[in-house]
Amino acid sequence: MRNDANGQSRRDFLAGAGFAAMSMMAGGCASGFKLGGNGSMSGFRAPRLERVRVGVVGVGSRGTYALKRLAFIPGVDVAAFCDINEEAMKRCRDFLAEKKLRPAREFLGPEAYKGLCQWDGVDVVYACVPWKLHAPVAIEAMRGGKHAFVEVPAAMDVDSCWELVKTSEATRRHCMMLENCCYGENEMLALNMCRLGVLGETVYGEAGYLHSGKTRGFKLSEFRAEWYQEHRGNYYPTHGLGPVAQYMNINRGDRFDYLCSMETKSVGDLIREGDPRWNGENLETFKKYKIGTYNSSLIRTVNGKVILLNLSCSAPHPYSRINTIQGTHGIFMDYPLRIDIEDTPGSGPHEVHRGRNNENYDSKRTAMYREKYMHPLWKQIGELAKKAGGHGGMDFLMDLRWVYCLQNGLPLDMDVYDLASWSCLCEITEKSQARGGEPTKIPDFTDGAWKTMQPLGIVTIDVSKMDFSNVGKAGPQQTIGHSKEG
Ligand SMILES: NC(=O)c1ccc[n+]([C@@H]2O[C@H](COP(=O)([O-])OP(=O)(O)OC[C@H]3O[C@@H](n4cnc5c(N)ncnc54)[C@H](O)[C@@H]3O)[C@@H](O)[C@H]2O)c1
Repeated sequence: MRNDANGQSRRDFLAGAGFAAMSMMAGGCASGFKLGGNGSMSGFRAPRLERVRVGVVGVGSRGTYALKRLAFIPGVDVAAFCDINEEAMKRCRDFLAEKKLRPAREFLGPEAYKGLCQWDGVDVVYACVPWKLHAPVAIEAMRGGKHAFVEVPAAMDVDSCWELVKTSEATRRHCMMLENCCYGENEMLALNMCRLGVLGETVYGEAGYLHSGKTRGFKLSEFRAEWYQEHRGNYYPTHGLGPVAQYMNINRGDRFDYLCSMETKSVGDLIREGDPRWNGENLETFKKYKIGTYNSSLIRTVNGKVILLNLSCSAPHPYSRINTIQGTHGIFMDYPLRIDIEDTPGSGPHEVHRGRNNENYDSKRTAMYREKYMHPLWKQIGELAKKAGGHGGMDFLMDLRWVYCLQNGLPLDMDVYDLASWSCLCEITEKSQARGGEPTKIPDFTDGAWKTMQPLGIVTIDVSKMDFSNVGKAGPQQTIGHSKEG
């Protein structure tokens, strides 16, 4: 067993508060759900659910879109929803009534999610609450015998990541982070190319979340503004990193070892009158922010691969998750999409000699690869997903896929170890940058099982028995780069 540089190993966690909470759970819970053993959740299959009854906790911006989307996913019943805001509750109630769907049970109030998590009328808790509530809601859900699906990042600190892992293992409930970007069309294209070995061995990746809208045009929700005032580091690592981690088989043959993170001065320190980010009203808000304008981290894996991970939500930049993967036989670069493969030994990449201007890249060749290697899930359901919407269809595909897995007793594409190793970077990047970019260990949440865990395959869905006649009825969904986050 190894210690991470934050001084915490799995043994430390078991000896501390996390384990105390787990011991309390061992007696079972109010709904009568009995806790199981403590085995790994890798490849875990839960008993099949014919219909999946979902309770949405937090029906603000993201949660309302999710509730509307889920209401028209074949095999799903929106059975409950919860918020502290009566207006948000009414919006969801009215939506279900207007669409002539069965009314859902309502839970109102700051602690009401606990009642929802214990209620036998739901199988799944889908959490779209402010960041600090993600882990408490997911833990409560699993203790109540429910599968927990939680928005990004699933937890903001290393201890909470451990607690999610241990709770999932003890309760034998799925705990999945809703990392929709793993289902993006280009991300799945890259994943498919990696699975087919087209790029050779992956050696280097670039990931990020660059979204200048966050502190410019939008009024920030309180929990985001609060975080920016209290923290530094990469607080939103998973959108770019999740897909790249899948390309590289992180937790399935390799794992993150350590990272070095650096951050620029804070937004508040950099902003001046006349700055395009200053709209005349938000100067005082900016001045309070501790968060840097740009965070850049380098992650090294145990097998010697490297990932560059960037975050900036306050400098002008076209929306980008970077989404680049370098292999020994070729490269996949996104934003804009460029694919280059050394298809015959010694032929050399086709684009290198064409210079630095992106306009010169061979778009026909990229289009040919895109067509040839499109992920089967996108080939199958891509048009439908685009019609359903949600960040270009990836939200719909993500939900459709986990619902399908639950209905068929299949392992989920992303497990609690992915959730923990991607989310824990919020704290680890913050610590590393505070110590001048010091290499900082990333815990092995799998406790060594990464060596034998199987890579995610090329997943599909049997759509032959699915009724998609209601797709599109949910109404408008979020678009890429036009929401506060996402
Ligand atoms: N994956 C994506 O593409 C994507 C996109 C947008 C947001 N998100 C994530 O979704 C989450 C929510 O973001 P948002 O933009 O919808 O924020 P929001 O502020 O609009 O919504 C949060 C909701 O949670 C409710 N809430 C607060 N405390 C609660 C409690 N104790 N019990 C129940 N409800 C409570 C609030 O009243 C609000 O309605 C965040 O984690 C964010 O990172 C993800």
